Amino acid sequence: PRPDDHVIVLFGATGDLAKRKLLPGLFHLARAGLMPSRYRIVGSAPAAEALGTEEFRKHAREAVSEFGSARPEGPAWREFEDALSFGAADPDDTGPLLAAVHEAERAVGGSPRRLFHLAVPPKAFPSVVDELGSTGLAEGGRLIVEKPFGTDLASARALDATIHAVFDESRVFRIDHFLGKESVDNILALRFANGLFEPVWNRNHISHVQIDVPEQLTIEGRAGFFEGTGTFRDMIVTHLFQILGFVAMEPPATLTARSLRQEKDKVFAALRPLDPAHVVRGQYEGYRDEPGVDPHSDTETFVALRVELDNWRWAGVPFYLRSGKALGQGRHMVTLGFREPALRMFPLTTQDTAEGRHNALVIDFDDPGRITTRFLAKEPGPEMRLGEAEMVFAYTDCFTTAHALEGYERLLLDAMLGDQSLFTSSDGIERLWEVSAPLLHDPPPVQSYAPGSWGPESVHRLIRPYRWYLPEER
Ligand code: BG6
Repeated sequence: PRPDDHVIVLFGATGDLAKRKLLPGLFHLARAGLMPSRYRIVGSAPAAEALGTEEFRKHAREAVSEFGSARPEGPAWREFEDALSFGAADPDDTGPLLAAVHEAERAVGGSPRRLFHLAVPPKAFPSVVDELGSTGLAEGGRLIVEKPFGTDLASARALDATIHAVFDESRVFRIDHFLGKESVDNILALRFANGLFEPVWNRNHISHVQIDVPEQLTIEGRAGFFEGTGTFRDMIVTHLFQILGFVAMEPPATLTARSLRQEKDKVFAALRPLDPAHVVRGQYEGYRDEPGVDPHSDTETFVALRVELDNWRWAGVPFYLRSGKALGQGRHMVTLGFREPALRMFPLTTQDTAEGRHNALVIDFDDPGRITTRFLAKEPGPEMRLGEAEMVFAYTDCFTTAHALEGYERLLLDAMLGDQSLFTSSDGIERLWEVSAPLLHDPPPVQSYAPGSWGPESVHRLIRPYRWYLPEER
């Protein structure tokens, strides 16, 4: 389906996210014929950073040429560029923004739906939301909010109160771009469309789960954002816990947003509060020398932790989560380690006896993604010797990925369609902060690790008797 006609207002239009993801993503949607038949995009920023419409079009062209999947040229680009305009947001002078939105609405004609995307630092949220309320712009409109959704339970509640004073929950879209990734969505298909996997997807067969998102990137000059945030708030409480929600949820009654969110929130309700004794915080060597970083900074650039779910499906099955900057590889992996068979009939020929290593389902959700089943098989020859084997599903082997959308693109489209399935609820977010409270109150000291490694040494102790699936050994 195609979304209704829209006026999209992009707050933070001159910022990093708009440049890397939002403007290139909207252009890709337009080229794919997925934008509404009539739409306008109004860029906005505080008066000090305001651009004229022509400057904004140039800014968008540069963003698309640097980060987009297609060059900004030809009729498709000209049509997209024509849809762009700019209106400064200033709490003391709401005139320019109001004028830009009303002009965009006239250009679209009829009564287009308004979609506000808040790609701004958290401290700017309240003033923008208040402005949308006091000017009446919010009426009937939808709101996309970027993480972090607060920094702890109290601030998340305050943020929700600010938002709910102007937008009811059915019009709020808290975006987590990991949930827009094709192969994360495919976790639902894998589990609930096949009789093969779901019957073994529980504590009877699975010994442990790893959700591992190492990054090679450092903080890439984002000290201003990162120093006050750290890996736990940037990656774990957001992206990795959301993935955990998909991996661990019960089958939803239907595929509606309501059922999916209910099931995910039930997983979060069953999470045991984090125990700081099962958390490793790390900081890469050299982080304190990065420009803008406090030389005594205690901000973590790495977190590995163990968490458990107190429910019938997962009781006693540890989930290990890891993410960090400046690590050995950039990967996105979920590994389900299976229990050993009841009886070991074959002499073990592999050196690696850690349970769940050669008996695992590995979901690699890098774009475009892969799923690997690892198991033991008889090696050809007269003896009964076993070797490690695997079956691989690669997206690119089975499907054309020509129609694939990036995480942000898929979610922008869903927000225009009003589908909240892949967005997070305020209850879910508040529960995640509640679970995180013991760690936030009593964080273990950061341990340093060498860039290019897999984190501080203690990550290996954390996961014993299992082993991290990464680095992959062949
Ligand atoms: C963002 C974080 O949300 O996700 C970044 O703020 C991180 O620090 C990024 O690098 C990772 O996203 P992806 O899709 O590139 O793995």
